Amino acid sequence: MSIAILYSGRYGTTKGVADRVAGAVDGDVPVTQIRRGIECPDADTIVIGAAIYGGKASGAVTGFVESHRDALMGRRVLLYVACLYDGERAEQQLADSFPPWLIAHSSGRYYVGGQVVWSRLSFFHKLLMKRVAGIEGNVERLRSTEIDRMIADLR
Ligand SMILES: Cc1cc2nc3c(=O)[nH]c(=O)nc-3n(C[C@H](O)[C@H](O)[C@H](O)COP(=O)(O)O)c2cc1C
Repeated sequence: MSIAILYSGRYGTTKGVADRVAGAVDGDVPVTQIRRGIECPDADTIVIGAAIYGGKASGAVTGFVESHRDALMGRRVLLYVACLYDGERAEQQLADSFPPWLIAHSSGRYYVGGQVVWSRLSFFHKLLMKRVAGIEGNVERLRSTEIDRMIADLR
C-alpha cells in the first residue's frame, strides 16, 4: 500500500510531523508541500496535514482539496491539524479547515498539537501572538500520542 503525505505549514511543525510519520512507516513516503497547482500524488493513501492560523488552514489547502475532489474520493485519506488548541476547539478548527465531504470520507483525523519557535516568527506574527494569545516565547505542545496513533493506523 503506497502512502503520500501533503502538508501546509509555515514554521516547520506540520512538515516535522509529516517527516516523522514518513520515517516511521514502511516504504518510500513522499512528503510534499501543498502549493498552488500541485497534482494529487498517485498513492493509495493520502495524508493531508494543515497548520492552523487564525482558526483554520490556509487557502492553499482548501484550493487543493476542492480541485482534487474526485481523486481524493477514490483514495484512503487521513487528515491532521497542527495547532495550539486541543479538545473541542481543535476539532472545530479541523472542521473549519476541510470540507464536510472530505471529513466524512477520511478514515482518520488527528490533532497533533503545535509549537511556537519564537525566533522563527515574523515580526507581524510575534505581534499577533503577543496581542491575541499572550504568548511571548517558545511553546512546545506536540502530542506524540496523536502522531503515534496516526502511524499505527497507517501500518
Ligand atoms: C500568527 C499565528 C496564528 C495562530 N493561530 C492559531 C489558531 O487560531 N489556533 C491554534 O490552535 N493555533 C494557532 N497558531 C499556532 C500554530 O497553529 C502552531 O504554531 C503550529 O505549530 C504552526 O505550524 P507550522 O510550524 O507548521 O506553521 C497560530 C500561530 C501563529 C504564529
